[in-house]
Amino acid sequence: MATRRTFVQTAAAASAAAAGGKVESLALNGGAKAVSFPADRHAALTKWPRYGAADKQAVIELMESNRYYQEIPLLEKDTQDFAGVPHCKAHCNGTSALMSMFFALDLPPGSEILVPSYTASATIVPMRFFGLVPVFTDIDPATACLDLNHAARVITPRSRAIVPMHSWGRPCDMDQISAFAKERGLIVLEDAAQAQGATLLGKQMGAWGAMGIFSYQTSKVLPAIEGGMGLYHSRTHYERATAFGNYDLPASFPADSPYRKYHDTGFGPKFRIHPLAAAIARRQLKELDARNALIREQTQRLNARLTALPGLSEQKRREDMSRVHWAANVLFFDAGKAGFAKDRLIKALAAEGVRASSAQYPEQHKFAIYREAQWWHHAPVVPEVLPGCARVNGTSIRLPLFAETAPELVEQYAAAFEKVWAHRKGLA
Ligand SMILES: Cc1ncc(COP(=O)(O)O)c(C=O)c1O
Repeated sequence: MATRRTFVQTAAAASAAAAGGKVESLALNGGAKAVSFPADRHAALTKWPRYGAADKQAVIELMESNRYYQEIPLLEKDTQDFAGVPHCKAHCNGTSALMSMFFALDLPPGSEILVPSYTASATIVPMRFFGLVPVFTDIDPATACLDLNHAARVITPRSRAIVPMHSWGRPCDMDQISAFAKERGLIVLEDAAQAQGATLLGKQMGAWGAMGIFSYQTSKVLPAIEGGMGLYHSRTHYERATAFGNYDLPASFPADSPYRKYHDTGFGPKFRIHPLAAAIARRQLKELDARNALIREQTQRLNARLTALPGLSEQKRREDMSRVHWAANVLFFDAGKAGFAKDRLIKALAAEGVRASSAQYPEQHKFAIYREAQWWHHAPVVPEVLPGCARVNGTSIRLPLFAETAPELVEQYAAAFEKVWAHRKGLA
């Protein structure tokens, strides 16, 4: 059982080490663990998703109400208000929201879309159903988000749109991307699956592009177990995206809508969100900002200590952005600057009781589907290596997010890193 005393002792050992005093042995070599926080509390603090009595009550109330489907427009209205966009459509997940978005785009087959390779397959693979062709774009290793310099190199006369993805909840530089897109005549679409609630210049992620999407899948910042949302600035985009996967909704469009006539058929898929997921999403949305802020505050407190260590950095911040954190606290580890290898770091941290891993994030250009011309209107150009993606995957480490206030655990994590750094020479 961790006590205030063990916590203070661990922290003190680390500061002694930092000040050149006696350095406690690494747990790897038989020393005491820096993280003495009780395992069950540790697990409870990092648990995700987090559902409480109010979420369960919302589900039960809807089940008993017999007004299931009315929950969906209520969630859409709440999301319009939250994000400040005129139209929203809930979908059964983020993937179906993306697919509806590509249908709504209404671009001629063979049109190209600039997209970061460092993203989920859902951002790219659905393009093929509409004859759209991905142009794999690199990411900036300092932000893990789309690299505009690389975009300027790979754009072609067929490029019509660009889809920034806000990696790990860090907003892309949407002001610069919007300016780039305007200059080049590209439509901006946003994959904000990982970033609901993040802002740049006070404007919500998802609201910057002509269209954007959120995912409500279990790991996301707004988890409804499954679900998604599309955000649209134009009525045409909204009506097309809605008609695509909802045969029952075109009759609700205004009389002059060219999509009313697709009532009763839609365009094939049925992408309606489950009403119980809509109920969970509505409840979770009420707490989203507070929860994002709590996780951000703890992560930033920890990272302020960690990024003081040579070789550790986080996704570059901007003063005018407020990021959120999706799934993990991702840090970049420069083995050259730290003086020892990443696998040694992970092992040493694990022995100290830190839940660290070096898990990889997909680089889409490496997957088979993009290399087989038969699936695409014209064969995508598939790069062998995208150096920014390779660098981010080569250097990133993942720590858990703390979803409750836990100053002792934050302190013990920081102390564990400082202890490992005090033994850098031995780990080399
Ligand atoms: C960036 C990104 N886009 C799209 C998706 C797809 O969302 P969903 O899982 O809700 O279909 C995800 C989810 O993993 C994602 O992380």
